[in-house]
Amino acid sequence: MPPTPSRLALSVLFITSEVHPLSKTGGLGDVSAALPAALRQLGVDVRLLIPGYPQVLAGLKHKRKVAELNGLAQFPPAVLLSARLPVTASTDVPVFIIDCPGLYRREGGPYLDAAGHDWPDNALRFGLLAKVGAILACDASPLAWRPQVVHCNDWQSGLTPAYLHFHRGTKAASLMAVHNLAFQGVFPPGSVTQLGLPAASFDINGVEYHGKMSFLKAGLYYADHIVSVSPTYAREIQTAPLGFGLQGLLAGRRKHLSGIINGIDTVEWDPATDPCLARNYTVRRLAAKAANKRALQQALGLTLDPDILLFGAVSRFTHQKGYDLLLQVALQLIRLPAQMVILGNGEAALEQQLALLAKTHPGKIAVRIGFDEALSHLIEAGADSFLMPSRFEPCGLNQMYSQRYGTPPVVHATGGLLDTVVDCTPATLANGSASGFLFHPMTSGNFLAAIRRVSITYQDKPIWRRLQKNCMTKDFSWSPSAAAYRKIYLSLLSEAAKPTHATPIAPKRKRKT
Ligand code: ADP
Ligand code: GLC
Repeated sequence: MPPTPSRLALSVLFITSEVHPLSKTGGLGDVSAALPAALRQLGVDVRLLIPGYPQVLAGLKHKRKVAELNGLAQFPPAVLLSARLPVTASTDVPVFIIDCPGLYRREGGPYLDAAGHDWPDNALRFGLLAKVGAILACDASPLAWRPQVVHCNDWQSGLTPAYLHFHRGTKAASLMAVHNLAFQGVFPPGSVTQLGLPAASFDINGVEYHGKMSFLKAGLYYADHIVSVSPTYAREIQTAPLGFGLQGLLAGRRKHLSGIINGIDTVEWDPATDPCLARNYTVRRLAAKAANKRALQQALGLTLDPDILLFGAVSRFTHQKGYDLLLQVALQLIRLPAQMVILGNGEAALEQQLALLAKTHPGKIAVRIGFDEALSHLIEAGADSFLMPSRFEPCGLNQMYSQRYGTPPVVHATGGLLDTVVDCTPATLANGSASGFLFHPMTSGNFLAAIRRVSITYQDKPIWRRLQKNCMTKDFSWSPSAAAYRKIYLSLLSEAAKPTHATPIAPKRKRKT
């Protein structure tokens, strides 16, 4: 039995804009479900704070009102609800939901409307999330429960450390987790006063970023500690181009910057029990994986062929994910011979190009545009190898899912991909660590060369089995990483008395508002 968190000292508010299975656009949703559950297993009293989108309100049972949230800057009235998020059979996580009909009760995604445009009031939508997070984390909280640490995630909760910085009473320490520096939450300068921050915060030593306000920069500047989601990404973001303009600030804060690799939910992603599969399998019953390949080929209209090499890919279609490279190599890939199945959605141009590719190569390439959780599981199980040519990848979860499913991935050697996949070479095969195929630098030629290596290795069945076995026996569970987060929370508490904020990053300059 896990310890009862409420009896233990360490309490954490985990602020997030998405959480699986209620609302998910990518890996943050998965992390927001699995990491808090793993922390509770370690005895940390972690509770979530999320916006009350319609699907969140509909998906949570037994909600009760715990506070009114009125008169906060220019935010519309809201109430705070409390419920529990069932995560695994043994762990559930208490959740606070901000029910603000004026900002959250609308059809569409968390960040974009149905036409794919940013919601015009995103500054208010996520300003409110951050503001409520700060209120719950200080002595102005209407609740009896008080966190000692706030764990913020990406730009959507980046303002919480700023609000806390300007609060004069007692308050929690803050941790800013960077899942993706490419999204920064940049808004016009007038947002500063609209969101109830002091005008003095609009400064290079504050929330100002090239004449605008940046939610992410605010979090990186004011948080007591920064964590990025892999050690390699923690190094990459301190330099251009992967610092996306924030490399100077991050390098200046490197003593307060750690890289902790994400884990995966090993219960939800388990080929032995996964209900989305045609047939369950384990490393000892690997032959049963073939039934999933057949089911996948059948479901997507590919030629039924148990022997042909089948590649899978699941992703958001954005510049980050490198699908332009995938388009460049697709024709050579099917001539290996091989098949390819792609699931994803995002940029319209990529959606159209990929759909056209499938149309012109029926039976060999299948593309499904949309978000389909169950199909993503079947692809991990049914494909022989998984493609992730990401330009950059802070951590990446699919390469871990695919290893767990005995589907060795082909990945660009960047960020968390480099930290979680071991290139297949005679030496790594001999020492039992080989688990996929890496390429670098990111060119279509190098990507294709790695794909050809897969094809050659796949022909050698005993070696391929060894590779699959290496993959499936790796430990991707959250436990070590959750313990690393716990250690950082504790270190923040012991440092609480000391001033920890960044030293000025440049001489002060005149304010622009
Ligand atoms: P990112 O967060 O950058 O999108 P990750 O690899 O960390 O990348 O996580 C992506 C998560 O979202 C995975 O769980 C992946 O399976 C899922 N996902 C992405 N696109 C889709 C889709 N179209 N349908 C189903 N799941 C998807
Ligand atoms: C981001 C990153 C991805 C990471 C995920 C969860 O969306 O793009 O690499 O795995 O967050 O941390």
